[in-house]
Amino acid sequence: MGKQILGLTVNGRSYRTAARPYDVLLDVIRENLNLTGTKRGCDMGTCGCCTVIIEGKPILSCLTLAAQVEDKKITTIEGIRENGHLHPLQEAFADFGGSQCGFCTPGIIMAAKAMLDRNPRPDDAQLREGISGNLCRCTGWIKIFEAVKHAATEVAKRNAPNE
Ligand code: FES
Ligand code: FES
Repeated sequence: MGKQILGLTVNGRSYRTAARPYDVLLDVIRENLNLTGTKRGCDMGTCGCCTVIIEGKPILSCLTLAAQVEDKKITTIEGIRENGHLHPLQEAFADFGGSQCGFCTPGIIMAAKAMLDRNPRPDDAQLREGISGNLCRCTGWIKIFEAVKHAATEVAKRNAPNE
């Protein structure tokens, strides 16, 4: 089947790119747009490595056709810096050792960001639930959880600077 021109909005930037109707978003953002922060793990919807945020929701880009998300607001790990600074989640993963090989990290950060955007004051159970669809084969989870929990505290402080 031939390629069509798709209009995608990724990290606030508009792209026009050629893709086949059956190309998944993961391939288009990595190969056409050269945004390789989003990773391919299982390629079948079970690991969460490919998570991006679309219209505020964490979405598995390996299971999403690029043509389905034309004109939607797509955010990848490359797009979460704020005013030139790392997002608190990115800082916390570095500070707390939440990454080892790092392959799962972009997906976990995107899932956690979508959760914190929805609920800036999650309790521990909500934090765990928010990243429960993402698998890490290296860290043993404690450091990931500590990083997400610390970032949640930072986000809450930022949202309420006078508390
Ligand atoms: Fe998409 Fe694993 S690569 S869920
Ligand atoms: Fe290696 Fe998570 S840090 S898979």
